[in-house]
Amino acid sequence: MPVPRSEYLSSTWKDGIFAGRVAFVTGGAGSICSAQTRALVALGANAAIIGRNVEKTERVAADIATARSGAKVIGIGGCDVRDPQALVDAAKRCADELGGIDFVIAGAAGNFVAPIAGLSSNAFRTVMEIDVMGTYNTVKATIPYLVESAKRNPNPSTDGLTGGRIIAVSAAFHYTGSPMQAHVMAAKSSVDNIMVSVALEYGPFGVTANVVTPGGIEGTEGMERLASSKISSKEMGRAIPSGRMGTVRDIADATVYLFSDAGNYVNGNILVVDGAGWRASHSG
Ligand code: HXC
Repeated sequence: MPVPRSEYLSSTWKDGIFAGRVAFVTGGAGSICSAQTRALVALGANAAIIGRNVEKTERVAADIATARSGAKVIGIGGCDVRDPQALVDAAKRCADELGGIDFVIAGAAGNFVAPIAGLSSNAFRTVMEIDVMGTYNTVKATIPYLVESAKRNPNPSTDGLTGGRIIAVSAAFHYTGSPMQAHVMAAKSSVDNIMVSVALEYGPFGVTANVVTPGGIEGTEGMERLASSKISSKEMGRAIPSGRMGTVRDIADATVYLFSDAGNYVNGNILVVDGAGWRASHSG
C-alpha cells in the first residue's frame, strides 16, 4: 500500500535535495535499508535495491517508487553480495539504467543468535562472508562510480550538490561486547574498518565513507531474531537513555543527514543511532 508522502517530509527534510542522484542499496528490501532508500527517493533520488530474493526485491522496489511521483526504483533480485561478479553486474545495470551511482548503502547482513559452541565453521563463515566480503565486494563494484560522481560535483560545499557517498550499516555489539554474537562482532568490526579505509583512500577523490550503526530498531527482522523474550518494545525502550526503541525513520534521518550537504565534511566516522543504548550497556 502506498505510504503517504507526508510521512517522509519533516522540518529537517527538504523536498528535492537529492534530485538527479542515484542510490545503490544492498539489502535494500530489508526493513531498515528500504526505509533509508524510501527517504532518498522521496527527496528526489532514483535507486536500485539489491537482494537475493527476486520476488521480494522487485515488490519492495515497486513500493519504494510510490514515495515520489516519477521516481525510478529498480529491484535487482537474485544478487548475492558474496558473489563479486554479481555486484559488478548490478552496479553496471544501475548505472546504465539510472545514469550513474552517487550514493551507496552497504546494508546486506546476516545474523542469528548462537553461542560459540553452537556455531559451526560454516555458520561463522557465512556471516563473515555476507557482512565482510559483501561490504568489500560492494565497495569494489561501486567505488569507480562514486569517484565519477564526485568528479561531476567537484565542490559540493558551494554548488549545493552532493555525490560520491557510501555508508555501511553496522551493529553495536562489538562496541561493548555481547554473548551469542561472536560471528557478528567479528564481522561488523571488520565492516567498520573497511569504511575507514575507504574514507582514507577515497577522501582525496571527493568520496565520503561512513558507518551508520542502528541500535535496537522496533519492527525489524533483526530485532525479531535477537529478542530473547516476549518483552514489549516499550519495556525494552525503558533501558535506553532516550527512553524508547529506535525506529526505521531514525536510521533514515541519519542517512539523509550524511548524504545531504550537511554531511559534506563528515568522513570516516561511525554514527551510532541508538538513543545512547550502547553507552548505557557499557556503564552496566
Ligand atoms: C547456529 C546457524 C543458525 C543458528 C543458521 N546457521 N542459523 N547456526 N544457529 N540460528 C548455520 C547453518 O546451520 C549453516 O551451517 C550456516 O549457518 C549457513 O546457513 P544457511 O542457511 O545455509 O546460509 P544462508 O542461506 O546463506 O543464510 C544466511 C543466514 C540467514 C545468515 C544463516 O539467517 C540469512 O539469510 N540471513 C539474512 C537476513 C538477516 O539475517 N537479517 C538480520 C540482519 S540484522 P552448517 O554448518 O549447518 O552448514 C543484523 C543486526 C541486528 O545484522 C542488530 C539489532 C540490534
